[in-house]
Amino acid sequence: MTVILAIETSCDETSAAVVVDGRDVRASLVSSQVKLHEKYGGIVPEIASRAHIERIGPIIEETLAAAGITYRDLDAVAVTAGPGLVGSLLVGVTAAKTLALTCDLPLVPVDHIEAHATSAALVADPPPWPAIALVVSGGHTSLYLVRDFLDIELLGQTVDDAAGEAFDKVAAILELGYPGGPVIDRVAQRGNPRAVAFPRPSVARSSPAPVGRGFTSPHSSELNFSFSGLKTAVLYHVYGSGQKYGSLAHLSPQGIADIAASFQAALVETLVAKTLAAAKQTGVTNVVVGGGVAANSALRADLQTACSQAALTLHLTPMEYCTDNAAMIAALGYQRFRRGLTADLWLEPRAGLLRPRKSDKVTK
Ligand code: KG4
Ligand code: ZN
Repeated sequence: MTVILAIETSCDETSAAVVVDGRDVRASLVSSQVKLHEKYGGIVPEIASRAHIERIGPIIEETLAAAGITYRDLDAVAVTAGPGLVGSLLVGVTAAKTLALTCDLPLVPVDHIEAHATSAALVADPPPWPAIALVVSGGHTSLYLVRDFLDIELLGQTVDDAAGEAFDKVAAILELGYPGGPVIDRVAQRGNPRAVAFPRPSVARSSPAPVGRGFTSPHSSELNFSFSGLKTAVLYHVYGSGQKYGSLAHLSPQGIADIAASFQAALVETLVAKTLAAAKQTGVTNVVVGGGVAANSALRADLQTACSQAALTLHLTPMEYCTDNAAMIAALGYQRFRRGLTADLWLEPRAGLLRPRKSDKVTK
């Protein structure tokens, strides 16, 4: 039996979890900072770092207490070392290093996005690999081929906004509040998804692959995403051509719900189509989905229908492990710990992905 304490502070959630053997979640606590950031309409990195500092100690203590264990029962400490806000990551990494040093525990660094890509395994009956993983979060929208927990290949990613970012920005345009994903999900249920024919964003085969972070994907750019045009289409629709409307006053609550539902439908349709295209290109029949936007009810329902029709098996991440949480860090941390992939106390957080994948081509 391997008991792992994991810490996650990559963005605006301070989280700790105790997970046994990578799957049995004994405690998973998440302290959200939404209240601190909502008046700014987005995350303020400095405020996030300071809040992590205040909360990290207590949340670790509370998590161990909730799991009914002490520091002495731990076998390793896993921590998100990137990607994320460096000031936020630094708090979690420093806490993990402190525990590793004082309790003489192995330190296991985990990539936040790889953890989202494998979070569907946090169930009694985990998905078999290989699987196509759709990761849809506030900062990332990517498709991966997961051959195994430690063999994850990038197939495509967004060339501009992430899906969660598009939800947040459209919610801001519609003055629905922050974070935008959950509120659009709720408001869209009262709206007509066919009311407005927003563009279905598609990245043509001939368009260049994204060059962010010095790497490009060797795969067809058909598997890349683009959401900034959709967001702009919503903006133009709301304010009218030539910005003839100066506010939302011309829209009824039903009109706003219709726009929210139509935007969500366009975005979800694109995510579903590209996920199916990735399965077709690779011949892989299992699909996993993770990240905050994986909590979206329309995405969950539409993926289920599309996967059934295409004879694919869909493994949805449980709702509580879609948005940022330390349980998924413990799950992947366990796999890395088993294979001896630990770090020393020189570990430093990284804003970008932790390592280039072997399939990624370095472009310089
Ligand atoms: O994975 P996550 O918690 O943090 C990052 O790693 O970025 O994702 C946060 C994102 C936010 O943009 C939020 O609006 C979105 O996930 N989100 C949703 C829903 N719940 C959270 N988007 C659509 N529908 C939801 N139900
Ligand atoms: Zn995340």
